[in-house]
Amino acid sequence: IVAEFTEKVNAEGDLQALEQIKAAYMGKKGPLTGILKNLRNLSPEEKSEVGQAANKAKTAMQEVMENRRQGIIRAQIDEKVASEWVDFTLDEDAEKIGALHPVSQMQYEIEDIFSGLGFTVQDGPHCELDFYNFEALNIPADHPARDMQDTFYFENGAILRTHTSAIQARAMERIKPPFKIIGPGKVFRVERLDASHEAAFHQLEGMVVDEDISVANLIHTMKTLLSEIFQKDIKVRLRPGYFPFVEPGFELDINCQICNGKGCSVCKQTGWLELMPCGMVHPNVLKAGGIDTEKFTGFAFGLGLDRLVMMRHKIEDIRHLHSGDLRFSSQFK
Ligand code: PHE
Repeated sequence: IVAEFTEKVNAEGDLQALEQIKAAYMGKKGPLTGILKNLRNLSPEEKSEVGQAANKAKTAMQEVMENRRQGIIRAQIDEKVASEWVDFTLDEDAEKIGALHPVSQMQYEIEDIFSGLGFTVQDGPHCELDFYNFEALNIPADHPARDMQDTFYFENGAILRTHTSAIQARAMERIKPPFKIIGPGKVFRVERLDASHEAAFHQLEGMVVDEDISVANLIHTMKTLLSEIFQKDIKVRLRPGYFPFVEPGFELDINCQICNGKGCSVCKQTGWLELMPCGMVHPNVLKAGGIDTEKFTGFAFGLGLDRLVMMRHKIEDIRHLHSGDLRFSSQFK
């Protein structure tokens, strides 16, 4: 009986079926119970011999039964673990969700504002030709203005663009006036690095060319833009500024939003920040872009995105922006 029982039990993989086997062999109607019931019909010697054997068999069967039961349960757990396996060794950082860099956030926001004003967004390469960065912008090879922007030169003569004005030089080849465009992007200059100077930073160029465009249009657009960005009226001042590609040219300063005009490291204690160089597009620039200067005039401006971001988040050092330090950038989700 024990051998037969053991064979059947060990062949079974289902807990319920196992209970049925147990009932059949060890239950009230099973062979073991029959033997024990029959004991009283036996002689005393037989009684003790058969009784002991039956009890031994019972113990053995219980053990076989319990082992199998544990075996089945363990197999079920193993299967569950295998199917629901989670790798707890994965780096938790992989679960962290990224976000746009604050400069990108600012760029996209300003793109939205200008899109609403009917501007289209233009692009251009970081690695630029001398022609688009200088030549087409009324900055000929011997022009002293080339000293204004200390440029990264490649050995083959290509450069890293020093301003997003290169984007407008390219755009004029693609699109014909009247047009309203912006060109955001990274620009590069050889700089002495400090709290307000980085070798790589961000500008957003704007250019409007149409009939009868005047300084009044320029000022109105700048004011609209600033009130949209800051969601309040911002104090500005306009100073004459010189850029070969505009005439007249201006520097538009805004009241430092970090110290509220009181003076801090970013505004060099002046209370003012140079934010938007701008001016009326020089006729030579329009001509280089194949535009009829008898018919069209235009204005252009360059906006420093990094400064805006620093003011919005009260960041005291521009070098944080390109640091790649997650302790910094994860604050702007
Ligand atoms: N391109 C100029 C610069 O990099 C800024 C500028 C743009 C000035 C447009 C006037 C008009 O500083």
